[in-house]
Amino acid sequence: MPDRVLVAITGASGAPYAVSLLRRELGEKYLVLSNWGRMVLGEETGLTEDDLRPLVRRVFSDKDLANAFASGSNPFDAMVIAPCSLSTMAKIATGIADSLITRAALVALKERRRLVLVVREAPWTTSALENAARLSRDGVVILPASPPFYHRPQNLEELVEHMVDKIEGVLGGEPQRRWRPEQLDDGDPE
Ligand SMILES: Cc1cc2nc3c(=O)[nH]c(=O)nc-3n(C[C@H](O)[C@H](O)[C@H](O)COP(=O)(O)O)c2cc1C
Repeated sequence: MPDRVLVAITGASGAPYAVSLLRRELGEKYLVLSNWGRMVLGEETGLTEDDLRPLVRRVFSDKDLANAFASGSNPFDAMVIAPCSLSTMAKIATGIADSLITRAALVALKERRRLVLVVREAPWTTSALENAARLSRDGVVILPASPPFYHRPQNLEELVEHMVDKIEGVLGGEPQRRWRPEQLDDGDPE
């Protein structure tokens, strides 16, 4: 698992993924929300930025371009943008660093650090597909917010948790739910 991770919430639908992710043990967590991220968080969960404060070490302003995460000289292991809007993905793909979120993402890119974008939109524009392909070629993990159903989630919360397992998995964590693990672990395949 990463030692130091920056989590960013932008204005795409899917704020519950961010809340669940922040509740997990991910090492030292820092948080930044875009203006629209804050708005959608309230709309979808009824929570505010202050409600998330106890889950992280510090919360930073997206306007703070003098922040430590805006410089490659401060090491961090991973950055996760969850949910990630098409707008934020487009900025990162084209090198626009006009906010802490986009600047820190470009720092992660240039320093070859793990960058995970939990993108949500439907359907996707051609430009979004091209931006995702470009970032993927640069090593960015494009992790569309599309929760799996093969664990037969019984409610919305389980659906969200399964999706967040995927995010934790690409950060190096052990997934809480696996598909047919007994075939690997018990050594007694049929
Ligand atoms: C309720 C709501 C839901 C939205 N859902 C999405 C979405 O799923 N994906 C997306 O790319 N943009 C979505 N948007 C639009 C973004 O919020 C908008 O493009 C914004 O400029 C993104 O800015 P940010 O990336 O700096 O947060 C949504 C906006 C609102 C108000």
